[in-house]
Amino acid sequence: MTDLITEQATAAASGAAATEQFRSKQRTENTSADTERVDTLVSELLAATHDIVRRHKVTYAEYDALKAWLIQVGEDGEWPLFLDVWIEHAVEEVAGESRKGSKGTIEGPYYIPGSPRFAAEASLPTRDGEQGTPLLFQGQVRAVDGTPLSGAVVEMWHADNDGLYSQFAPGLPEWNLRGTVVADARGNFKIHTIEPAPYQIPTDGSCGKLIEAAGWHAWRPAHLHLKVAAPGHQLITTQLYFQGGEHVGDDIATAVKPELILAPTPVADGQGREVTYDFVLDKA
Ligand code: DHB
Ligand code: FE
Repeated sequence: MTDLITEQATAAASGAAATEQFRSKQRTENTSADTERVDTLVSELLAATHDIVRRHKVTYAEYDALKAWLIQVGEDGEWPLFLDVWIEHAVEEVAGESRKGSKGTIEGPYYIPGSPRFAAEASLPTRDGEQGTPLLFQGQVRAVDGTPLSGAVVEMWHADNDGLYSQFAPGLPEWNLRGTVVADARGNFKIHTIEPAPYQIPTDGSCGKLIEAAGWHAWRPAHLHLKVAAPGHQLITTQLYFQGGEHVGDDIATAVKPELILAPTPVADGQGREVTYDFVLDKA
């Protein structure tokens, strides 16, 4: 049974789900295409590529290998994974550069809007006997001037103890380890969950092939994904990591920032660990 589940968690399956999820999000958002901007960005991207070809004397064999690989990324549905691992961190850096509040980082390909809503103290949905160290994640949502934000909403989603995300790997309940917690009138929230395992980029697809060919590793450190919002304030999309965890220092997605590393402590009179982390939101 376990073997069957592991076997079915393929790059093609999670890639197809991530591609479909992105398409459904894209349909509801406007994308503007300013001719001058497209001209500038695409021309510079092409010029940078030509420069690499000339400097490294790229051969026809290498050019054909690239062509075959690019075709395969599309067939595997792995464009969302590729872009979010190797490009998104730079886009996020630019997007967040003038913010004074809490740091954000990449969203990644596995966010699903509309997770079940809970009151200010909640447990994320889990299976009976969900594996992993219990974690109490609590804090307060405030404005930059320190005012507690009533009406704040904390959405959390993360991988399970096998590094798998619900709705992108088979055999997991639909909303496993995904929830939307409405903070109390003072912006306080308490979320009970389990600590996720490190996440490995699927090794059996085209991104896995690239990683192997380049002699890289395929790992992201264990992380909690969050979106934190409050009326009149800028939403932040972020991730939190665990001090001393594997790959905190060499995340393949380059999404770790020092401000995003948690140091949970053992729960005094219970099981597992707990940590307090406050979010500070900039005005909209
Ligand atoms: C990818 C997966 C993640 O869980 C994440 O947070 C970022 C990127 C990926 O496979 O592209
Ligand atoms: Fe992730």
